[in-house]
Amino acid sequence: MLQHHIVSAEPPTDRVESSSGANKMLDPFGRAITYLRVSVTDRCDFRCVYCMSEDMAFLPKRDLLTLEELDRICSAFVDRGVRKLRITGGEPLVRRDIMTLFGSLSRHLDSGGLDELTVTTNGSQLARHAKELAACGVKRINVSIDTLDAEKFRRITRWGDLTKVLQGLDAAQNAGLKVKINTVALKGVNEGEIEPLLEWAHGRGMDLTLIEVMPLGEIDGQRIDQFLPLSLVRARLAGRYTLEDLADRTGGPARYVRVKETGGRLGFITPMTHNFCESCNRVRLTCTGQLFMCLGQEDAADLRAPVRASESNELLERSIVDAIARKPKGHDFIIDRRHARPALSRHMSVTGG
Ligand code: 5AD
Ligand code: SF4
Repeated sequence: MLQHHIVSAEPPTDRVESSSGANKMLDPFGRAITYLRVSVTDRCDFRCVYCMSEDMAFLPKRDLLTLEELDRICSAFVDRGVRKLRITGGEPLVRRDIMTLFGSLSRHLDSGGLDELTVTTNGSQLARHAKELAACGVKRINVSIDTLDAEKFRRITRWGDLTKVLQGLDAAQNAGLKVKINTVALKGVNEGEIEPLLEWAHGRGMDLTLIEVMPLGEIDGQRIDQFLPLSLVRARLAGRYTLEDLADRTGGPARYVRVKETGGRLGFITPMTHNFCESCNRVRLTCTGQLFMCLGQEDAADLRAPVRASESNELLERSIVDAIARKPKGHDFIIDRRHARPALSRHMSVTGG
């Protein structure tokens, strides 16, 4: 999957025939859209300090896409060349009957229409769901853990229980799921814990990805107080470990290194300090059916109206193609003292990261 090598001398086009015969979608900049991230709920059983305020107002249930509507939209994207689906939230595993959606989407894995069905979770419900996820064809999952200190974990997540999350991790690994740990680097909070987290994750055969805080949504604190540049974290790690650059690209903002001493993979997600837009292969669907073509822009296309307007998928498919045709070139996040407001008003839990 080398989307960043796809260049188009053609005028903007929204579909081409791929060799497999499926309809592929190219955006105006020649990027093939092969990855859909789907937020199935804005709710969460945690209240991470960088993500949510403590008294979040959530959407009324009637505004949410039903599980059937989510399936129809995902399937329309798969028909149009999307090869990878990631289910996110909020916390996706707190949505009622969510396993029904995994179960129905797994047919696209069986048919070969989809390469990967995956999930990003806080791990709180994994002990219950790990086996069934694996049975639905999920092979790899991302679990968010910012600290291994139970008390600090409670402080960061406000409501989370580390013991439960660790039990979830055990269940996931026992079910054969490959786990990647996502850690948001927080200034003065888990700054001194990056090395222990790395040793722990790699010791259990899990990749670790570090994430810079992004300016999404109103929270209770000041974003500038949380921001820890990963360039600094990387420089510190390089004093202790041998970091070998890897070519692995996912079409997203992650860059990977191999840590020679542990043998494990370490990722850096630096949306603030790196430009990765030219290789972007993804779009994001919110739980209310808004399609965001770029994480860093306000423009969205409504897919709920067309999916509710008729039982056939014609309108829906046209809306998808029209939306991809206006995917912007890139974003411009800024956190500094002059931009103390969030760059975007919506929270990460709306678009699922
Ligand atoms: N900036 C960076 N990462 C965030 N996450 C949630 N909100 C933010 C933010 N504002 C992280 C979660 C999880 C991933 C999906 O996104 O911790 O690891
Ligand atoms: Fe929930 Fe994830 Fe946001 Fe934390 S970061 S509150 S676990 S959605």
